[in-house]
Amino acid sequence: MGQDIRGKIAYITGGSSGIGKATAHQFAKEGVHLGLIARNQKKLEKVQNELESYGISVVSYSADISNHNQVKDAIQTFEQKLGKADILINNAAISDYGNFQDMDEEVWKHIFEVNVFGTYHMLKEVLPHLVSKQKGDIINISSSNGLKATAGSTAYSASKFAIQGMSEALMQEVRRENIRVFTMNPSLVATELAFGDELETKNEDKFMQPEDIAEYITAQLKLNQRIFIKQSAQWATNPF
Ligand SMILES: NC(=O)c1ccc[n+]([C@@H]2O[C@H](COP(=O)([O-])OP(=O)(O)OC[C@H]3O[C@@H](n4cnc5c(N)ncnc54)[C@H](OP(=O)(O)O)[C@@H]3O)[C@@H](O)[C@H]2O)c1
Repeated sequence: MGQDIRGKIAYITGGSSGIGKATAHQFAKEGVHLGLIARNQKKLEKVQNELESYGISVVSYSADISNHNQVKDAIQTFEQKLGKADILINNAAISDYGNFQDMDEEVWKHIFEVNVFGTYHMLKEVLPHLVSKQKGDIINISSSNGLKATAGSTAYSASKFAIQGMSEALMQEVRRENIRVFTMNPSLVATELAFGDELETKNEDKFMQPEDIAEYITAQLKLNQRIFIKQSAQWATNPF
């Protein structure tokens, strides 16, 4: 028998768009209370309004995860208004592509500040919640680019490889506290991050959709507490 996730409390970074938003919707349908972080307050509020119709508690907080103080404030707010987290979805990230020689140092560093240090800040603040409960789930979203790099993605790939290493090491540390750390590595998913302004025109059913990833995330969390999937890759069946 698996487990019910109804009534649990999940914090999701990047809950206003793409995979994070789809996961928030899926969780809300399952009766999970939600703390959502992203920078754009208007987009967050729109998603919050949609989610409240499911009858769960939702708190959204506009924060840049690359800023540790903003993350601290967000997590304190979630703790006061929702309670300590049972589930943390480290999903927010940015991407930028270009040949190594052409990419400015500032851009390169910023990708690390958001993707790697942003995840670090979230873990630093939320892990104590899970440790205090001696139970909990962390899902870190890396990428197929975090397993196999491609030309033009030095910064994004390096940041996602860093997530693999951080995630694997953390998993080994905290499984002794009954905390499950899942690392996911989706290939192309039809979101703004992948398609930018062309999302509307290129969003064909042959590509994985954010809802597919949300279903996978939910299914993983419902596994019996004694099992978890330490690393997985999600591929489109026939994207050609
Ligand atoms: N789409 C793909 O093909 C694909 C493939 C493999 C892995 N992934 C991974 O999946 C995850 C989700 O990506 P997605 O495709 O769903 O992207 P998306 O649609 O662009 O959504 C990204 C989310 O992250 C938030 N965000 C970005 N920078 C942030 C910051 N500094 N602080 C707080 N929130 C921030 C965005 O909101 P604001 O802009 O308002 O902050 C937005 O809610 C990422 O980790 C990505 O690397 C995506």
